[in-house]
Amino acid sequence: MGINSQMDPGEDERHQGRRPSAPSVDGTKLREMVEAAEEHLRTPDDKLPEFGMPGESAYELITSELLLDGSARLNLATFVTTWMPPRARQLMGETADKNLIDKDEYPQTAAIEARCVNIIADLWNSPDREKATGCSTTGSSEAVMLGAMALKWKWRDRMRAAGKPTDRPNLVAGANVQVCWEKFCRYWDVEPRLVPVEGDTLHLTADRAVEYCDENTIGVAAILGSTFDGSYEPVKEIAAALDDLQARTGLDIPIHVDAAGGGFVAPFLQPDLEWDFRVPRVKSINASGHKYGLVYPGVGWAIWRDEGSLPKELVFDVNYLGGKMPTFSLNFSRPGSEVVAQYYMFTHLGYVGYRRTQQQSSDVAQYLAREIEKIGPYRLISHGDELPVFAFTLKPEVKNYTVYDVSDKLRERGWQVPAYTFPPNREDLQVLRIVVRAGMNQDMADLLLDDLRDRTAFFEALDAPLPRPNQPDAFAH
Ligand SMILES: Cc1ncc(COP(=O)(O)O)c(C=O)c1O
Repeated sequence: MGINSQMDPGEDERHQGRRPSAPSVDGTKLREMVEAAEEHLRTPDDKLPEFGMPGESAYELITSELLLDGSARLNLATFVTTWMPPRARQLMGETADKNLIDKDEYPQTAAIEARCVNIIADLWNSPDREKATGCSTTGSSEAVMLGAMALKWKWRDRMRAAGKPTDRPNLVAGANVQVCWEKFCRYWDVEPRLVPVEGDTLHLTADRAVEYCDENTIGVAAILGSTFDGSYEPVKEIAAALDDLQARTGLDIPIHVDAAGGGFVAPFLQPDLEWDFRVPRVKSINASGHKYGLVYPGVGWAIWRDEGSLPKELVFDVNYLGGKMPTFSLNFSRPGSEVVAQYYMFTHLGYVGYRRTQQQSSDVAQYLAREIEKIGPYRLISHGDELPVFAFTLKPEVKNYTVYDVSDKLRERGWQVPAYTFPPNREDLQVLRIVVRAGMNQDMADLLLDDLRDRTAFFEALDAPLPRPNQPDAFAH
């Protein structure tokens, strides 16, 4: 009996041209058996069922249940890729059984990962582009943990060498950082020094960053672009301000760029913007392959300026899979398919294809932003000209409805447009945000605009405020 026939009782008999033998039973017994069979055709809630069901039935039941999820293509909340070409999907299916960590067993998958690291390092103007130091991760969150751990270890070495205490490390970033930075600080016992956003300055600026630094600062995290509104933080200016701090005080504070979104946008749409390894103070960068890298979740990348920026103690060599294998990751086993899919996208699209794809997203985002502003009650917070992402709020004179009402109403048509508040000190600023990705074309943008105009007209016709439902006060994507 093969593996497949173990999964499908009765298959042996079918293969041998015989019908499965029917047991002879009385009426009561038969009813019990039917009930038991029907019971089997239910998906389990909290306990592994005693008997399984045919694979086709399980597939039907599960895919039917998943219809209740929102449509991924209409999800304008997520930064994560929701469309890939059919060949990429096929390739992912074909490589899901390879464990990325088994580099000895799957040397070509390992070689492909190394090629991707070099390609990305080259896109980010690494001085070490042909033998770059970097790795794939499950996403930017893991890549941020690795980059920030390297900062912490390097800082500790500097402090020990200077004979200073190492018990109070801190990390400086804008309060608009994604939650993964707060996770890093909590998990690795680092004080988060989050610089509040103020007035119309909704991300970290050079002068504010420097004010928060001292000798215990392991590094400054600069974001390209901000999760809240898609804007780019001024990496080069932050670096210049830290150069000045070093000249004045001797403190040499490195930068990690969290380019979760921008790492695969800026090299194509803003190639002259110096945010990457062209800036000497930038020691490491992360990006999400599964965002504008155009791959389904979960793949991310962490790249260091050079070998010296990644402390050796953080890299483990294991030999129990055969061969000597360096590993730097929080996970161990992972499917090879995401990395192979990233390589497929690089090979398939090339520089020009990526530039065209990102340009289309940027054009659609900027078009949507302009048209939304024209509707009347909305004010743009950003314009979609950095990341293809923008946020907008309601003008102060709008009293009868909120951004949360607009978000709810759009959901009736399937559009998922999140509403949330900005971090301290701008919690008063409530916005909607639209993330445009490959797969959101001009026609879909026009449909969204029609729906938004229509629903806005409904709200504008109200002569009293809507009753307030329970509105979430935070949204983390
Ligand atoms: C700036 C930034 N950093 C990190 C992350 C976390 O990325 P991932 O989902 O790839 O872990 C996000 C997610 O949106 C982000 O916007």
